Amino acid sequence: MEFFEVLKRRRSIRRFQDKPVPREVIEKLLEAAFLSPSSYNKRPWHFIVVDDKEKLEALSRAKLGASGLKTAPVAIVVTADERKSDVWVEDASIVAEHIHLASYDLGLGSFWVQIRNRMHDGTKSAEEYVRELLGIPENYRVLCIVGVGYPAENKPPHGDEVFEWEKVSHDEFGRGFR
Ligand SMILES: Cc1cc2nc3c(=O)[nH]c(=O)nc-3n(C[C@H](O)[C@H](O)[C@H](O)COP(=O)(O)O)c2cc1C
Repeated sequence: MEFFEVLKRRRSIRRFQDKPVPREVIEKLLEAAFLSPSSYNKRPWHFIVVDDKEKLEALSRAKLGASGLKTAPVAIVVTADERKSDVWVEDASIVAEHIHLASYDLGLGSFWVQIRNRMHDGTKSAEEYVRELLGIPENYRVLCIVGVGYPAENKPPHGDEVFEWEKVSHDEFGRGFR
């Protein structure tokens, strides 16, 4: 699909068909992830592909706003080694967006579940919860989980309302660009 069509049509999909995603399609998503840029090309990431139903169900309870993972046939947990890069957040965010966009291009739906800086409950962070569930070492930080699958909901493409030209300045902050 044409790149700008992918950008326009990608929407967050949180309900999925009960249909597995073939292994080769998941590998394509991971290829998209590996094609991400990273600061100093340090590539600090590590991905955990989760397709175990019980684990997906447990991940859907990681925090408020994760419940869409209940119907997702697969989730990709995006982590990065904070010892390898001080800007692991940026590196991992780009990766997650690559996965998001590639999902749409491959006929899948996807959504981002924020884990970093979110709480599981009153005492435990969502990151600790996911770390314990999946046995993630301390130095690997959990940015987010991308839930992926064949969509069970339809959303319209983005319209022109996203083009917020008033948020663009020319030469100095606040001077209109357009
Ligand atoms: C950093 C970030 C964190 C997000 N966290 C969540 C989340 O925890 N749960 C969720 O359902 N959606 C989450 N989203 C998806 C946004 O709600 C969604 O992208 C936004 O509402 C715009 O809708 P669209 O993706 O359909 O364009 C997140 C998106 C980003 C970029």
